[in-house]
This record gives sequence, C-alpha cells and structure tokens, in this order.
Amino acid sequence: MNEEQRLHDSQIKADTPNKTVGKDYSQYFQSVYVPPSLKEAKKRGKEEVAYVDNFSIDPQFKDLGNGRKFYIRTYGCQMNEHDTEVMAGIFQQLGYAATATVDDADVILLNTCAIRENAENKVFGELGHLKHLKTEKPDLLIGVCGCMSQEEAVVNKILKTYHQVDMIFGTHNIHRLPQILHEAYLSKEMVVEVWSKEGDVIENLPKVRKGSIKGWVNIMYGCDKFCTYCIVPYTRGKERSRRPEDIIQEVRHLAAQGYKEITLLGQNVNAYGKDLPDIDYGLGDLMDELRKIDIPRIRFTTSHPRDFDDKLIEVLAKGGNLLDHIHLPVQSGSSEILKIMARKYTRERYVELVRKIREAMPNATLTTDIIVGFPNETEEQFEETLSLYREIGFEMAYTYIYSPREGTPAARMTDNVPMEVKKERLQRLNALVAEYAAKSMKAYEGQIVHVLVEGESKRNPDVLSGYTEKNKLVNFTGPKSAIGQIVPVKVTAAKTWSLDGELAETPADLKAGV
Ligand code: 5AD
Ligand code: SF4
Repeated sequence: MNEEQRLHDSQIKADTPNKTVGKDYSQYFQSVYVPPSLKEAKKRGKEEVAYVDNFSIDPQFKDLGNGRKFYIRTYGCQMNEHDTEVMAGIFQQLGYAATATVDDADVILLNTCAIRENAENKVFGELGHLKHLKTEKPDLLIGVCGCMSQEEAVVNKILKTYHQVDMIFGTHNIHRLPQILHEAYLSKEMVVEVWSKEGDVIENLPKVRKGSIKGWVNIMYGCDKFCTYCIVPYTRGKERSRRPEDIIQEVRHLAAQGYKEITLLGQNVNAYGKDLPDIDYGLGDLMDELRKIDIPRIRFTTSHPRDFDDKLIEVLAKGGNLLDHIHLPVQSGSSEILKIMARKYTRERYVELVRKIREAMPNATLTTDIIVGFPNETEEQFEETLSLYREIGFEMAYTYIYSPREGTPAARMTDNVPMEVKKERLQRLNALVAEYAAKSMKAYEGQIVHVLVEGESKRNPDVLSGYTEKNKLVNFTGPKSAIGQIVPVKVTAAKTWSLDGELAETPADLKAGV
C-alpha cells in the first residue's frame, strides 16, 4: 500500500461517522465512537506507516478555546509527559489558556498510564474526585486519554460507571484532539475515539514544552517486543520510527533555542530505524549525527538489551555530548524467568553486553528496571536477581512487583507466589538497591561534578538543584543566575539518593548574578 492510499485510509478512519454511545446522533453531526480492541492492537500488519507531516488546525476549530482554560494531569512515563506537551500545544493553537488548578478549568484531561494496576487505580480515584466539579460547572469537559484508553476493559468500565467523563481518546488519536473536543461540546453522550491498529507518525505537531532547559524528543513510537507481562505493545501500537531528518531538525531547533539537554524517547529505542523501509539506519547512526549538534547533553531512554548493538556502543564511546549513563532494564537475573518473560536474552548475554559497554566506556553508569514476583518465580530465581545486581553493580534501579495486565500472556499464567512473598522480595531488593546507590554516591564526596541547574530545590528555595551527567541529583548553594547553566559543584556530602554541594568556582557569566 503506498503512502497516499494509507493517508486516504486514515482519513476515512478519521472521518467515518460512527455512532455515539446510546443514541445515534450521526444524522445531526459527524460524531465518533471507535472503541478499543486489544485483539486488533496485537496485530502487526505489513502496511507502511503513514507519515503525515502537515498537521494543522482545521480553521473551523481555531476559536474553540477562546475564553476557555485547560488542565492536563499526567500519569506514568516520559512518553506520556511529552504527549501532554503536544496536547498543550494543540490546546494553545485552539485558543485555550492553561490553568494550574482543576477548579478553574473548562477542560480537564487525565493522560493515563496502564503499566501497573496501581497506576490505573489512581486514575479511577481521581475521576471520582472530579465528579463534583461537573455538578458545579455543567459545561466542564472531562477527558481520559493515554494508555488506559487503549484498553477495552477500562473503556467499558468508564462507559458503565464514570458518567462524568465526556471523552475518551487513545494514544494514536492525540492529533484529533480538536475534532474530539468539538464533538464533545455538541454531544450529550460520551465521545469515544480509540484507534487500536498500528498508529501513524504525525509530524509538525505543536508543543508547549514544560521547561526551557531540558527537552524530550520522540524518536520512535510503539513496541514490537511483546514481553509477556507488558501492556505497552498493545497500548502504543507497532514500532514506528520518525525520519532521521525530522529528529535532527527538532534537536537543532531545541539547541538554537538554548536547551541544554535532550532525552531521546522511545519504548525500545534500540529498535530505532529497523522499520524504515528505504535506509539502513539505526540508533548508532542517529546518535553519531546528533553528537555533532551544539547541545551539551544527549540522553536516550529506554533501551532493550536485545537490540543494543556494537555500532551504538562504538558511537557512545566517542563521548562529547553523548552521556555515558545507560538505563538498561534487565527485569530479572534468572535466565528461566527471562525466557518466560520473552525478553529474548539470557543472564549471560546481558552480562556480556555490560562487559562490552564497560570495555568501551570504563566510566559508564548503569541503571535498570526489575520486576519481582513474576508468576511462579522461585526463591532461587529471585536470588539470581540479587546476585546479578551485585555482579553488575547497578547504581540505581526502578523496582516493581509484577502486576497482571489483562490481555497479556503472563496474566493468563497461574501464579503460586503469594503477595506477602512478593512484597518481602521487593523489600529485600530495595535494600540492596539503596546500599548500592549509597555506595555510588559516597564515591563523589570531595569531587567536582558538573550540574545542569534546573531551579530551586523543592524543599528549600535557598538551595539550587540539578542533575549531573550521570543523572545524580545535586542540591547546592549558589546564585540564582546559575539556573539553566551547567556549573561545577564540589560535593560536600553524599546521601543515598542525592548529593549535597557548593558551587566550586563562579563562572564569569554568573558573577554578575544574585
Ligand atoms: N508489572 C510490573 N512491572 C511492569 N513493568 C512493565 N510491565 C509491568 C507489569 N505488568 C515495568 C518494567 C518496565 C517498566 C517501565 O515497568 O520493569 O521496564
Ligand atoms: Fe514492554 Fe518489553 Fe516493549 Fe519494554 S520492551 S515496552 S517491557 S514489551
């Protein structure tokens, strides 16, 4: 199928008037009711991804937000945070103003996360809290978007129980926000538009970025790995890479605007480029081009060990603005568990990959993600995770108790591990994580680190805080003019999760500051 046909197809998808829930309003206006389907979401078609590079607001919607305010609450990962920036950009182009409080808002969006059950429960709790606002302000629109919207069970639950919700739209439908809002204002019924299949790549989306120091740049969407516990391949669709020239242009643009740090985003960034039909181009090639851009720091997340190739290691070893902090989720230290998780590597292969990384970058910092209490995980298998943690010497880890996600293969497995055992394993792992984190921090005492200063510390406005190249949080005393700069800080004390310090020398351009 060529691009034109695909575009046409997606236009049809977008424009076909379906039905609203309950009464059919399609005779009055073009309304949308496209429910999600996990079965559809699982399919990986051979169709080419549609690249739509001309996003623009339909003139009929451009005054939709005049005199109105929007509020978006974001749950979950950086990908969601970045989607929120895009939606804020669309709201702004529609004439809406941002507000920081729900009471003040005319539209409230919950940009949700489906990765674990407790993330979902928080959203249902919040929907409960918001209900009273609807009574006080009948014109208020409440919307649910993000990963939870892609799940049938969630949409059905909202349709049945959460009547305060006016619109549900999926992760592939963000660019349709103007149409969805328009429908929601006209319809008395809930507007549901969730495309389950693959997803496209839409360029030229507006963005209101959260800050002007660090910026996120999507390099790819979706995931085809289908780890057996994970809902993401269903909620985020198939792997689609952005064209390198679009990414490079966005990074250049951010550099020109004065951004100091870029994080390249993707669910599995190491698969970048594999789906680009016309070029043999991977993450290593992309990083090799990005490192030439005049921006001090470039990071990427999240990596999958299976696709982490030699070319990338070779390019990262060139250093410069490419940081040698690598977040490399391992999930388990047991090859048997890794097999049932369908991670497609063994403990030995992971260790070998780390060896290669360290050979090329002796000072590389490694952090990871770990799941404990996967179905039927034995004590011995869990201890293999502890022993791998020690063997690698991770500096930090995000740790989770396995949470069954409806529709995934692992959720259908029987599980003989009681919750108390899972909790106890998490505690033991967390104690080890804290021990190693403290040890890695201690090594910085008396050293000079380079801190990208993000602002005043949350706890004390007299203290500034920021992150080192290795992503260590540093709180230090220094002039406010250091905000937005990379400054040398002498570490005076190490804590488990952060460092304390003082400005080591005052760079000339800060001297005039307060
Ligand atoms: N249960 C618990 N943790 C999960 N993760 C992904 N899916 C699940 C699940 N079903 C964790 C993995 C992943 C991180 C983003 O979330 O460790 O790397
Ligand atoms: Fe989920 Fe595995 Fe894809 Fe990561 S690589 S998003 S854990 S399926």
